[in-house]
Amino acid sequence: MSFARTLAATLGASATLACLSTADAASPRCPESRATKKAPDDYLQRKNPVAPEAYKKKVAEEIFFGDGLSIACASCHGAKGDGAGDMASMFDPPPRNFRCKATMADVPDGQVFWVVRFGSPGTSMPPHKHLSDERIWQVVLYLRQLAN
Ligand code: HEC
Repeated sequence: MSFARTLAATLGASATLACLSTADAASPRCPESRATKKAPDDYLQRKNPVAPEAYKKKVAEEIFFGDGLSIACASCHGAKGDGAGDMASMFDPPPRNFRCKATMADVPDGQVFWVVRFGSPGTSMPPHKHLSDERIWQVVLYLRQLAN
């Protein structure tokens, strides 16, 4: 390995460490940059059809903490939704911190729906095509209350 590459690798490693220590702090990355592309317009404009009174916390939590059919959202996004799940440090870009209002307020319902169903190419956010519309909208409500 050339000196320049060794230096780059060392700098890269210390940058990663700096990031990890920020994520460990009481207030993880917030606001944070989003690598996820914009959803197509017909998704972007969708509003959550599930009224707040029809929110089923148990259904949403079952998906967030693992329905057994895909990796639990919490493994990456963290049990508290702060983006610091057990697997989080494996990924670049890191999983979204849903508790960060400054970031999440700019992510419309339709964008959240689209990214949960289809995933985010170029990031490790996986698709969840087995989830019905209703179940995804329940998770959207769950994520929203985390940013309050
Ligand atoms: C394998 C790890 C992993 C799992 C499992 C995972 N995510 Fe993600 N998620 C990510 C990463 C990485 C990103 C990309 C962050 C970015 O765009 O900067 C992301 C981004 C997101 C975003 C942000 C979209 C945007 O436009 O900003 C939402 C919403 C989201 N995930 C919801 C979920 C939900 C709900 C689940 C479970 C049903 C889930 N994720 C499961 C890793 C994961």
